[in-house]
Amino acid sequence: MRTQVAIIGSGPSGLLLGQLLATVGIETILLDRVSPEYILGRIRAGVLEDGAVRLLDQAGAGARLHAEGLIHDGFSLAFSGQDHRIDLHGLTGGKRVTVYGQTEVTRDLMAGRAQSGALSIYEAEAVTLHDFDRDAPYVTYQKDGQTHRIDCDFIAGCDGFHGVSRKSVPETALRTFEKIYPFGWLGLLAEVAPVSPELIYAHHPRGFALCSMRSMTRSRYYIQCSVDETVDAWSDERFWDELRRRLPAHHAEALRTAPSFEKSIAPLRSFVTEPMRFGRLFLVGDAAHIVPPTGAKGLNLAASDVHYLFEGLREQYRDGSGAGLEAYSAKALARIWKAERFSWWMTSVLHRFPTMGDFDQRMQEAELAYLAQSQAASTALAENYVGLPF
Ligand code: FAD
Ligand code: DHB
Repeated sequence: MRTQVAIIGSGPSGLLLGQLLATVGIETILLDRVSPEYILGRIRAGVLEDGAVRLLDQAGAGARLHAEGLIHDGFSLAFSGQDHRIDLHGLTGGKRVTVYGQTEVTRDLMAGRAQSGALSIYEAEAVTLHDFDRDAPYVTYQKDGQTHRIDCDFIAGCDGFHGVSRKSVPETALRTFEKIYPFGWLGLLAEVAPVSPELIYAHHPRGFALCSMRSMTRSRYYIQCSVDETVDAWSDERFWDELRRRLPAHHAEALRTAPSFEKSIAPLRSFVTEPMRFGRLFLVGDAAHIVPPTGAKGLNLAASDVHYLFEGLREQYRDGSGAGLEAYSAKALARIWKAERFSWWMTSVLHRFPTMGDFDQRMQEAELAYLAQSQAASTALAENYVGLPF
């Protein structure tokens, strides 16, 4: 088989890149090691920046998002028993975010790809990248007991943090930066109205909590937990009790509960790979970088990487110029490091660290009190939360 761009990974990065390339007639084959059903069973991000929404529109995948997504003009920072609203819309000259689950983004992109007739190969085993440091790269994989080969011009490594693409690059050719946090997030999804119409990011001496949603009848809640905990140790009842304890009293009283239908623990990590290009291989999204989820940036960063790579590939095929592809890594990394900073800062201010003493606790409270009082500080938070320009 031959294609122009081989895409490894059918998460939001790979699917969005494929759909954008299809709009300008660039052919792709997409490979994933698991099934579409498995991918659609993963519950992940929920908040989309305007830039990500624009790209989904450009890819022809925005219709359901506009019909069903929830526009949010602000959110609450809850601390010391009170809410402090961050007026995203007012502080950023009219910007807002859309609450629409990553699962639905993925479903919409998969439907678009199926409709376009582009080839997707799921449950591909032993995906291996070859010769991306030369002129004629190719990818091999196994399926149904046979080895297959895809020749291509370029490879897009969109296969997430644990994927094969980054691991295929010689260690000496890349530099990585990493911070692992000593806690995780336990997430729960339930068919029940959200406690509040806007998201609540709650600071509490017992640990961080986040009240989010997927719709006005489906809630997504998270609580900070220790890294060595397992989901089995958390009955629904224990989760709801702990969440209530970490919220201001009026929210705790208003909280409605229902049986969970998904519960999972995500570790928190900051990670960046430099550079993001190796010859004809480009790393995109979680394959190149991870942010802790506190700033809601993971999926949105994947979208901005896709934007830069799409523009580079379009220029290459339309004008024969490699300038955009040359600039890909530097452009993407400039935005990534700012989102890394914001996600690290949100995580540092809102979580309970095991080594924290009373002084550190007061520092967090002072930082939050300053945010609530100062328009300058709130504006800095808001402009990062709605997303820095591409
Ligand atoms: P992924 O979505 O990881 O997609 C990669 C794809 O590559 C997968 O389908 C995988 O099966 C495939 N793949 C992997 N290895 C191979 C291989 N060897 N061969 C072929 N295919 C392969 N972000 C937020 O903003 N908010 C959140 O609440 C949040 N929660 C998260 C919870 C978890 C558990 C995780 C892991 C991430 C979370 N994120 C969150 C981050 C966000 O979901 C990611 O940033 C986003 O999924 C990145 O998209 P991606 O397409 O780059 O990678
Ligand atoms: C969600 C996840 C986040 O990490 C976040 O900051 C906001 C919302 C969510 O899953 O809804």
